[in-house]
Amino acid sequence: MSASAEQLAISQDSNVDSTFKHFEVVPVAPALGAMIEGLHLSELTDESAEELRRAVWQYGVVFARDQHLDPVQQKRVASYFAEDFEEHPFAKNLADEGHPEVFVIEQFASDSARARTTTDLWHHDVTGRTNPNLVSVIQAKEVPFGADTMWASAGASYDYLPNELKLLFLGLDIDHDLAYMAMRHDFGDASTAAEKLVKVGEVATHPAVIQHPFTGRLGTFIGNGHIKRVHGYTTDLSDLILKIANELPKLPELQVRHHWSPGDVAIWDNFGTLHYGVTGDLRSQTRLLHRVSVWSREIAPYLDREAAIRELMEGRV
Ligand SMILES: [Fe+2]
Repeated sequence: MSASAEQLAISQDSNVDSTFKHFEVVPVAPALGAMIEGLHLSELTDESAEELRRAVWQYGVVFARDQHLDPVQQKRVASYFAEDFEEHPFAKNLADEGHPEVFVIEQFASDSARARTTTDLWHHDVTGRTNPNLVSVIQAKEVPFGADTMWASAGASYDYLPNELKLLFLGLDIDHDLAYMAMRHDFGDASTAAEKLVKVGEVATHPAVIQHPFTGRLGTFIGNGHIKRVHGYTTDLSDLILKIANELPKLPELQVRHHWSPGDVAIWDNFGTLHYGVTGDLRSQTRLLHRVSVWSREIAPYLDREAAIRELMEGRV
């Protein structure tokens, strides 16, 4: 039974995943996503944090309501997942309050309708890096009605492909480039000017399909963010292939959507999921979230390509 089928079985048999002892885990969609209940994240212990990590690897993204973490608490939650805090090349942060690790995702009522938050496209974060973020902990401060966040399962995206396309993607590497993302998506303000981001130099090549570092599950690792080209392919051919990949997270069956309330926290696996920030009606309101992300210099996207292709050909997946 595939991992996605196991999750489906759990959510149909009972609403609560009874394998968790320190808090309740209630799946909220078949492909990914679970609500954590009976846990305040400021009270994590080594034992409950171990279960929380398992929940994030298994469900891709977990949600906890009514947390209202302060920056120190939010950073502590993230630190249970990896040792290094992200430094972002252009995001605003809380450095003035002594917390440069806390990024501020914001858009104001005064912003024009065309103003971009850089979140409204399906992507993994910072894939232009050799060691992309492993986990992000995000907390809603102020979110207009409809300004939800959506996640899609990278594992379910891979599972969805017919074997012939699995084989194609298993053989590919993808070039990722931060500056290319900013130009392609026309971010276009001073903080994301192309010349600035070229200097940052976030460029990496990763397999198009990776093994999850903790579960081993195969998943796509492409997204419509930092991708530049299928490595070694012409632009035209590359665009055709990337279009297939970029359609996958748009499938409702592979998604979960969270309607925010202030104080809600989402913790997501950046290797195993893609996300999309729905901008909602920003003509009248402010959108403000705080994000802390962690990564590990020990963990990079990886695929044992020969083994994965062999298993596929032998019908063992
Ligand atoms: Fe993102």
